[in-house]
Amino acid sequence: MKGVILAGGLGTRLHPLTKVTNKHLLPIYSKPMIYYPIETLVQGGVKDILLVTGGNSAGDFLRLLGNGKRLGIRSMNYTYQEGEGGIADALFLAQDFADGEKIVVILGDNIFEEDISPFVDSFKKQSRGARLLLKKVPDPERFGVAEVKAGKVTRIVEKPKTPKSDYAVVGLYMYDAQVFDIIRPLRPSGRGELEITDVNNAYLKRDQLEYDILKGFWSDAGTFESLYRAGRLIAEKQSGKP
Ligand code: DAU
Repeated sequence: MKGVILAGGLGTRLHPLTKVTNKHLLPIYSKPMIYYPIETLVQGGVKDILLVTGGNSAGDFLRLLGNGKRLGIRSMNYTYQEGEGGIADALFLAQDFADGEKIVVILGDNIFEEDISPFVDSFKKQSRGARLLLKKVPDPERFGVAEVKAGKVTRIVEKPKTPKSDYAVVGLYMYDAQVFDIIRPLRPSGRGELEITDVNNAYLKRDQLEYDILKGFWSDAGTFESLYRAGRLIAEKQSGKP
């Protein structure tokens, strides 16, 4: 399966760190942030990758990653998102790359500990639709939140003020080719973005949304708090401390 890494956006929540460079080039302990989603995909057997970047220092990704061979990538492709139109807007740029096949999409600021291979394998067997990963978190209001009843997702709400569940929708999404038809008619949300949550709710409406629960450590790294926490946890993991 092909993989798409979304590393666009302006990273304004991390100003001034992102004033002169791209958020995904910032360090998380010993590596640039973008290494982590790449390693997650490669470990999951997803080695044909499109990197969608945007904003500042886009050329630095090429300097850093080159053809991707050193990181185990089979084919490394790049494109550029103009502006900050949202996650679904960035994903729309992957249509030609996907070429009608199923894709695994990962957000460039999401850090996973767990091997995603079992989830990718389940999606390969899934006849159609989308597959999400959910993770119990103490601060669901920061994320897309999935309400689950009798083993089925019933609704996903983007950053609800009063979350009805503590299941965050993590930044790894698996989609079939319908995703681009779903994105095309989307309109920007209140925050001016094409929302990935609207895409996921469209699959839900078609009754084609499956999910798995993530057990291992997961964090985003798009705020000072989460960037710091992700770095600390990676440092602890590498030093073997609990
Ligand atoms: O981290 C998981 C969460 O990511 C989900 O639970 C939410 O449903 C989803 O909306 C998203 O929330 P954030 O508001 O935290 O996303 P953020 O704007 O920080 O963007 C995350 C990544 O997506 C970013 O590192 C790069 C990519 N992105 C984002 C935007 C807005 C793009 O490639 N282009 C964009 O225009």
